[in-house]
Amino acid sequence: MTTSALIVLDHAAALLCAVAWFAAGATAAAGRAELVRVLLPVALLVTALRVASVAVLAGRGWWFVQEKALFGLPVLVVASVAAALVAGPRLRSGARSAGRIGAAGVVALFVPAFAAVAGFAVTYFGGYPLTPGTALIAFASVVAGALLTERVLTTPSPDHPEPAPPGQAASGTDRAESPAVAPDEDAGAVGEPDAGGGAVEVSRRRFLGVAGGAVAVGAAGTGIGLVAWPGAVAADQGGGPGPAARPAVSVADLRGADTPGPGGVRREHVLTARKATVRLDSGHLDSGRDFDAWTFDGAVPGPPITANRGDLLVVKLVNHDVEEGVTLHWHGYDLPCGEDGAAGVTQEVVAPGGEFVHRFRADQVGTYWYHTHHASHVGVRRGLYGAFVVREREEPAGAQVDLTLPVHTFEGGVTVAGGGEHTAPPGTPVRLRLINTDSDPRRFTLAGTPFRVVAVDGRDLEQPGEVGRVSLHLPAGGRYDLVFTMPATPVALAVDGGVMVRLRPGADDASTKDADEDTSGWPELDLLTYGTPIPVGLRTDPADRHFTLVLDRGLAVVDGSPAYAQTVNGRGHPSIPDQLVTEGDTVRFTVVNRSRETHPWHLHGHPVLVLSRDGRPSTGSPLWVDTFDVRPGEVWEVAFRATNPGIWMNHCHNLPHVHEGMMLQLRYDGVTSPFGGRHAAGSGHGH
Ligand code: C2O
Ligand code: CU
Repeated sequence: MTTSALIVLDHAAALLCAVAWFAAGATAAAGRAELVRVLLPVALLVTALRVASVAVLAGRGWWFVQEKALFGLPVLVVASVAAALVAGPRLRSGARSAGRIGAAGVVALFVPAFAAVAGFAVTYFGGYPLTPGTALIAFASVVAGALLTERVLTTPSPDHPEPAPPGQAASGTDRAESPAVAPDEDAGAVGEPDAGGGAVEVSRRRFLGVAGGAVAVGAAGTGIGLVAWPGAVAADQGGGPGPAARPAVSVADLRGADTPGPGGVRREHVLTARKATVRLDSGHLDSGRDFDAWTFDGAVPGPPITANRGDLLVVKLVNHDVEEGVTLHWHGYDLPCGEDGAAGVTQEVVAPGGEFVHRFRADQVGTYWYHTHHASHVGVRRGLYGAFVVREREEPAGAQVDLTLPVHTFEGGVTVAGGGEHTAPPGTPVRLRLINTDSDPRRFTLAGTPFRVVAVDGRDLEQPGEVGRVSLHLPAGGRYDLVFTMPATPVALAVDGGVMVRLRPGADDASTKDADEDTSGWPELDLLTYGTPIPVGLRTDPADRHFTLVLDRGLAVVDGSPAYAQTVNGRGHPSIPDQLVTEGDTVRFTVVNRSRETHPWHLHGHPVLVLSRDGRPSTGSPLWVDTFDVRPGEVWEVAFRATNPGIWMNHCHNLPHVHEGMMLQLRYDGVTSPFGGRHAAGSGHGH
């Protein structure tokens, strides 16, 4: 069973525990001892199942169960055993005593229900890691639930025991003289005739109201506690040394070269951010539909930027009228930090009328893209992105077809800029550069030809073999370069099942028939086993620093307000501690996904080498990526060399998740930011 399925199963077991114990408690409160005799063993059985489910889940990794194992489960088990010990004997005392479970017995049966709910709340709202504050508040809410229950049971009820007709509900005073349940001292007299009759007389409505109130108070307390417990935002050292006394370097001084490399040329661009109405002509949208876009130079995507290795790029960003602010981030390109475009960290956000000039040498060959890094959950979605491709200076010329294909979803319709129909004579070398500029993964299939995936995230793979009839799962922000030799028959590239790009060998009849076929059943190509391994010379065990990032949802402060956030180790941006590294370190990340959503993890400024997924080592070509999809329940180990000083964003590339808190900073010791040092929140909202 997948870890993700186990997590769901364990949630179900936790809730089932709550239901079973509430049923036992409520039945006891109603004096139905015969039924309690059945429900108590059932509740104990469900509790045992819960213990088993947590144990199995623990086998997938401590991160998946830590708060359950340290809080929820012990409290539940102790409460369940106590319930059996307190209520059990009273149930066994013979027919004559049926119904005399007593307040203590009833309370004892309710406590495991409170414990189950509190444990679930800790998992659901707090998660990993368990904090003492959360544990205390949750424990207090269990105690409060027990006390309230006891009070309800032993306080005379003004209510009628049965639901009263409308208008009479509050008028019942006929039972005010007798306690609903005998106080516990009295209940000790098990077997004595009960003057008030066999059943414990509790207004169920009132009881459930108060018990529900107690649970709500406990849950609210947990929430408030989590929010009021942000703690100090100290840096995480990942097991390495703390900050050393060294002269500070400002990110503002970490800028790119200002001359081309040998043989390179200077390439200047101006990208003007402006809002515009654009007509999208490719893809699934109804043709002619207008769209209110945020654009570079009035187009979506923005102008493609290309260079040859060694060229100097001088790109001036001008913000014409995007009030929310704009920056340019060069996704996957390992620039000096001052060129990185992280608003509030490596530069100020560029406001309307403002500009920022990026200057850097194109030293990395491959497929990349650029996008705004401010309010990006809105800005990128609405069009502030474009392709960035760097080629070798002496790339084989001739009849090569080289298509750059950024995929983007506009208002629900998938589009591929540069897609549509293309002609390539048989024998032509073809390269397709797939770029996923969306926040969700995309599934690609290439029908009609075998092919190779020669590069991932701009970096070449080692001896990638020919594959066919497989699907490619491209993480948000990621890139794949596919190459093949054009056959004498058509080729079709599909995105999520829809054909978006067609290549035809010519205009004759045979070559105009489509290569469309049902590719939905094609298995996914696993890049961890693709290509040939070679030594990479990265010592990762032990690494100089090792950080664990547990991704989940939970209550956390995001940009100053409490939210049900996308969290890293239980916190949201900007309250997640920085990761401190020293130049030259080998750094390892363990990234764990406890949530139900895929998180495309993305570190700026460095490619990371994939070491393993779910404990299975990568056995194919060394896989250096800037974005890797951590699917629900997965655990990834990656490593990199800290050779690019700066303050680097480290975040999920599902951009709405960033907005909901899933972003932190990796900071080199000694590097400072004059721009505030915290990534700006970004005020944009979808329209
Ligand atoms: Cu493409 Cu920080 O992102
Ligand atoms: Cu995410």
